[in-house]
Order: sequence, then C-alpha cells, then structure tokens
Amino acid sequence: MSSSLTNHQVRLAKRPEGTATRENWKFTTELVGEPAEGGVLVKTLSLSLDPAMRGWLNDAKSYIAPVAIDEVMRAGGVGRVIASKNPQFAVGDTVYGTLGVQEYMLIPEDQLKRNGLVKIDLRVGTITQWLNVLGMPGMTGYFGLMDVGQPKAGETVVVSGAAGAVGQTVGQLARIKGCRVVGIAGGAAKCDWVVKELGFDACIDYKAGAGAVREGLKAHCPKGVDIYFDNVGGEILDAVLARLARKARVIICGAISQYNNANSMPGAGPKNYLSLLVNRARMEGIVVFDYADRYPIAIAELAGYLKDGRMKSKEDIVKGLDTFPESLNKLFAGENFGKLVLEVAQD
Ligand SMILES: NC(=O)c1ccc[n+]([C@@H]2O[C@H](COP(=O)([O-])OP(=O)(O)OC[C@H]3O[C@@H](n4cnc5c(N)ncnc54)[C@H](OP(=O)(O)O)[C@@H]3O)[C@@H](O)[C@H]2O)c1
Repeated sequence: MSSSLTNHQVRLAKRPEGTATRENWKFTTELVGEPAEGGVLVKTLSLSLDPAMRGWLNDAKSYIAPVAIDEVMRAGGVGRVIASKNPQFAVGDTVYGTLGVQEYMLIPEDQLKRNGLVKIDLRVGTITQWLNVLGMPGMTGYFGLMDVGQPKAGETVVVSGAAGAVGQTVGQLARIKGCRVVGIAGGAAKCDWVVKELGFDACIDYKAGAGAVREGLKAHCPKGVDIYFDNVGGEILDAVLARLARKARVIICGAISQYNNANSMPGAGPKNYLSLLVNRARMEGIVVFDYADRYPIAIAELAGYLKDGRMKSKEDIVKGLDTFPESLNKLFAGENFGKLVLEVAQD
C-alpha cells in the first residue's frame, strides 16, 4: 500500500546568511517505497521545531554535522508506524525519532539507531508533551539543571527563555527542588504566565526597556544568582554574570539571540566573564544527546510531576508542512508561546 503514497518534503536549497527565508528551502515530492527486511515506514504526525535547526544550516563544525544542500531538513518528531518488516516495531506503534521535515520516513534497519527511533506510550503523555517536557527540550532542562546545575533547596535559579520549551521545564523543576526561581522572558503575557500558571517566584520582562534585566535581577535576586540556566546568550547573559553569587553555576544551553548573526554563531563573547573568577563560579555547556542513556529516568520523574499536577506542559501548535519556513522563524521573533510544534498530519 505504501508505494501508492506521495511524500511531501522540505529540503535545504541554499545556506542562509542571517535569517532563513523561503528562498533557502525547496519543496519536493516523491513516491514512498516499501520497507526492506528489518526496516520500517513511519508516517509523520508532529515535528519539533527547534532553535538548533538554524545552527544546522551553517557549514560549520558543531556537535552534529550540518544539514547538506538538497538533504531533507533534519527534525525530530512523533509518527505512526504504517508498515514494518522489523519485529521490534508493529504497525500502529507510535514512535519518536529523527523523521525529517517530510510526511513519511522510510528507515532501513541499519539506520534505526541513528534515527533514534523509539516507541512512545500515549498513556504517559500526549504527542505534543512527548515533544516538550517528556521529549528533547524536557531532557535538556532536566539534565542541564540537575547534572550541570546541581540545585540545592533555597538557592536562587534564573532561567532565560522562561516561557519556552526548555525554560518551562527548568523553572518548574527548580521550584519542585525547593529553589527560588526567577524567569526572564519577552513581554508581559509570557511573564504573567510563568508566575501565575507555573509558579515561578518572579519573571523579568527583558523587553520592558533598557536596564530592565539589570534592575529586575537586583530586585528579585538580592543575594545573587546561584544558578543561571542560559538559553539566550548575548546581553542577558552579561547582565546575569554581573550578579552571580559565590560558587554560582552558569549552564550554557543555548544562545538564541546570536543564531541569526550573518557571520554565523557564536558572535561576541560575554564581557562580564571575570565575575566567574571573583565569585569562584563556573560556566559549563550541555548537549542533551550525551544523556540519552538516562532519558528513561528523567521521563519517569517528569511524567510523575505531570500526572500529579506539579508540572505543566505548554505547546504552541502550528499546522502544515508548507508553513515550515515561516513557522521556524517564529522561534527567533519570540512568536511562539510554549514549545513550538508543527502538526503535519492529524492522529
Ligand atoms: N544544548 C542542548 O542540548 C539544547 C537542547 C535544546 C535546546 N537548546 C537551546 O535552548 C534554547 C531554548 O530552546 P527552546 O527549544 O526551549 O526554544 P523556546 O524557548 O521554546 O523558543 C525560543 C524563544 O527564545 C526567545 N528569544 C528569541 N530571540 C531572543 C533574543 N534575541 N533574546 C532573548 N530571547 C530570545 C523567545 O522567547 P521570548 O519571547 O521570551 O523572547 C523564543 O520564544 C535555545 O537556545 C536552544 O538552542 C539547547
């Protein structure tokens, strides 16, 4: 049956300089083949749209190879197995893996591990929760905070990108661990939400005018910042560095404010880095994939919090493969409210 299906795909046409536009992409169609022995065919349901996608478009050395010209754009997603010649996957299974920005993914047996194809249980969380708190952003927040940050009850945790995918997990988890949590986000609506709905102690609107972050940190972190979970880099990172407490930990998770720089990332470094010396503090990067073996532990803990109501998971769903170029750019304009998910097909 799969040979009669047509696959719509989004491929990288040209590397962007600065913000990617429709010109950087091309839309292709091809017929879907049948899985060979050991392989599976997955129908894409929803894709994760991630800031990191912008980095994968640069021809630069990073933790993962760039997407090649003409290659289907890389994307993690949730799909349904619609044909299988592999005993580990049955038709009807819901799976997570690197499916790409396309409607169907034919995965040969020797690529299953590379694509990270795993079954997921929709009784534990919805499709979009599996792309958020229970998925890659949740794992990033969990291991970044717990392993790199090592929070102790009573400490002050600041997280930027607070209303986004990683930020919402970090802040809620830090509260559960007994920390005082201050978010940084763009606009009153996002700040209100993280305080009123997620229970953060405070949130600083970095768009509220020059000096808003500096003044906000002074007001809400009178004893300094013990842990800064940095999702944005740039001037906000500098402002937080200037308020570190003794033995602070700065988790470098991402620098979205720099990703669209025309001469590619990372842009200029922080100016206030000598605060690390003065405060005997440390700054450490995290790459979520390093923790893949331990995802089940984090998923079990986070799923428990979702179930008992101590944690919420907010997703922002956009629809249609053809909207991919503009939908991706929402991340860099702060137009997403919660984890940005592209619904490709209804379940
Ligand atoms: N290291 C890893 O393994 C790993 C894994 C996943 C994600 N990450 C990183 O984690 C960060 C957050 O990712 P996410 O998926 O959770 O995205 P997200 O926070 O859901 O969405 C991105 C948000 O970034 C904020 N933003 C955009 N431009 C900004 C700017 N110039 N200054 C300040 N904030 C800006 C916007 O929120 P506002 O409206 O608040 O501005 C936007 O909604 C990214 O840097 C990403 O690359 C790292």
